Amino acid sequence: MAQASLSTSSWSHLLPGGYGLGKPKPPRCFEGVVRAVIEKRKSMTKLDLTYIRSQFPAFSEPSLQGFAHFENAGGSYACGQVVERLQRYYRETKVQPYYGFEPSRRAGRQMDQARTRLAAWLNVATDEVHFGPSTSQNTYVVAQALRQHLRPGDEIIVTNQDHEANIGVWRRLEADGMVIREWRVNPHSAELNVDDLENLLNERTRVVAFTHCSNIVGSMHPVAAWTEMIHAAGAIAIVDGVSYAGHGLPDVAALGVDIYLLSLYKVYGPHLGIMAMRSELNEELPNQGHFFNADHVTDRFTPAGPDHAQIAAVNGVIDYFEAVYAHHFTHCPDNTEPAPAQKARAVAPLFRHAERANLAPLLDFLVQRDGVRLIGKVTTENRAPTVAFTVKNRQPGDIAAELAAQGIGIGNGNCYAWRLMQALDIPPEQGVVRLSFVHYTRYDELSRLIEGLDRTL
Ligand SMILES: Cc1ncc(COP(=O)(O)O)c(C=O)c1O
Repeated sequence: MAQASLSTSSWSHLLPGGYGLGKPKPPRCFEGVVRAVIEKRKSMTKLDLTYIRSQFPAFSEPSLQGFAHFENAGGSYACGQVVERLQRYYRETKVQPYYGFEPSRRAGRQMDQARTRLAAWLNVATDEVHFGPSTSQNTYVVAQALRQHLRPGDEIIVTNQDHEANIGVWRRLEADGMVIREWRVNPHSAELNVDDLENLLNERTRVVAFTHCSNIVGSMHPVAAWTEMIHAAGAIAIVDGVSYAGHGLPDVAALGVDIYLLSLYKVYGPHLGIMAMRSELNEELPNQGHFFNADHVTDRFTPAGPDHAQIAAVNGVIDYFEAVYAHHFTHCPDNTEPAPAQKARAVAPLFRHAERANLAPLLDFLVQRDGVRLIGKVTTENRAPTVAFTVKNRQPGDIAAELAAQGIGIGNGNCYAWRLMQALDIPPEQGVVRLSFVHYTRYDELSRLIEGLDRTL
């Protein structure tokens, strides 16, 4: 049995640090822009959906005509900018990057720009962004680093609400003597209660892993407040933002977390996992890359070099967010550009507003339906449009198949939230029906979904 006395010291010496040491300062009229953005938004209640949908080739793709996409929590459509960037990379610069010959130089430049631009939109420093093949792979690598860094008796808190990518890798550290504590959902509401976290935190807690937004329950958690508690206990916060980021890029520095994870294939982009890690933590953890790269901060946690073309295509995601911002907002009076993080803060509410308008009728429909057990809250505030439910005496797979036959794509199963299914007394092999959409979803598509559900349930 592990002894608490063997515990490593807490992370207090790292905390409460911040992201972005050495980041460029925001422009002079930054505060003015904040006000201008807010004023403009007040007068503009709607996202320009015609414009938004014109940015996604899927909406004009002949083979997708008549298809309604309601499995966005699994994977969103890619915006045209990403498709174009990928094609451009393969056409013009598909060589080994970072050599001195011209196409190679250009390839490396695109990859560097991708990191810098994404970091700015997430409000972290460039070398705090790490590209991996997926979020599951990124957490796996960090778990190997923690295996070497933590000591027997150190405690790790995991939830039973998360996707397995942010649970299983930490749980496996039990084999090395680390103690796993489970922050459990309320089995009726499916929600995490912060009082339970408070009861679990103690002087041996080193890590708390939780989700910004569950891919089943949909509630958006108050990450900054929870992280403050976690830091006060001397632990680090590792947050899964995969189901959150498609609804608006987060300001990672403002959340204060130590590691933030997201998967760009659910944020209109290529199939890559993004990990923002505070540089102080990066320095503290042992290198997981090749030994000779130990001093290359962005190589230390990406032992498998991710796909170059996809990294270059991250620029397309940022091109899209830039275009959305430019279409809906104006610049400072002196024509200086607002900081990217400020643009992110302006774009996210536009997305959310559009999503909530569609979410309300869907929730209303489901709560009135006999035999439907809706998971998560019935109100739209701080709730992602990811709606899961079960139906008495019906199999989720059968419901999904019936909707598929009507040209409506939805999800079903446990969506890798296996432990949540168990906590809610839902057989994980059957799971739930999951309907998920994003800002580009139109009301007529939602009506089709509700009509389809009405016929099917
Ligand atoms: C909430 C959540 N976290 C983590 C993951 C895992 O992401 P990846 O597929 O990039 O490993 C998913 C994937 O569906 C997810 O929905």
